[in-house]
Amino acid sequence: MKVLIFLGSTRESQPPKPSRLGARVATALLSHFKEEYADDDVELIDPLDYPTGEVFKPHFAYASGSAPKELDALADKIQRADAYVMVSPEYNHSLSPALAHLLNHFGSSLYAYKPSLIVTYSAGQWGGVRAAIGMRAFLSELGCLPVSAMIHVPRAADVLDSEGQCHPQQNTEKWKSYWQRGSSQLLWWAEAVRQHREVVDPHKLIGNFTHDPQQRNAPD
Ligand SMILES: Cc1cc2nc3c(=O)[nH]c(=O)nc-3n(C[C@H](O)[C@H](O)[C@H](O)COP(=O)(O)O)c2cc1C
Repeated sequence: MKVLIFLGSTRESQPPKPSRLGARVATALLSHFKEEYADDDVELIDPLDYPTGEVFKPHFAYASGSAPKELDALADKIQRADAYVMVSPEYNHSLSPALAHLLNHFGSSLYAYKPSLIVTYSAGQWGGVRAAIGMRAFLSELGCLPVSAMIHVPRAADVLDSEGQCHPQQNTEKWKSYWQRGSSQLLWWAEAVRQHREVVDPHKLIGNFTHDPQQRNAPD
């Protein structure tokens, strides 16, 4: 099973402190998956590793063979993955622009027919739940349907240290079991759809939208 954990933060600014709080949450999830699912291939995807630039040009808009090699590599990883963990802060009650921007670089056919797990966090008390609601629609449109369990981390700097470990005053066992509920659902679905993808190729059965948004329209 191949799992990609997307870190939805590129923020360098302070305040609010600390910057890039999301790195703690994504690292905690990465450690959890590595500990609990040692046989699986789990990788952290950091938006800072990809040349997404100021001007938006999605990977699918490049002529064949002319896209930046990093985007080619990420497209390949997304296509080969069985499941996604989407880690986002809440910015103005929405998912992070860094996460949306990175995900928007790739067509839905690469993500489709695989499950995703929504993980949100915030500096404050709500843990990003309002962002999470919007993420359900966003991820559903990409075709990587979110499982019902979600992970929300309020006051994330008080929960996790800079290494992604729970602070000593936290109930580590409770946090582990909270991660576990989300990861178990994700991997259950991932295994189920992986098996079925091997029996029936959804891309052949259903067909992908490839070039024209009007392909989605109801008949005139
Ligand atoms: C532009 C901006 C908008 C924010 N909006 C919210 C918000 O709507 N709800 C919330 O709980 N926190 C909000 N915050 C606080 C974030 O939860 C906090 O800054 C967190 O550290 C962001 O994650 P990051 O450091 O990984 O970027 C906002 C922060 C910024 C910079």
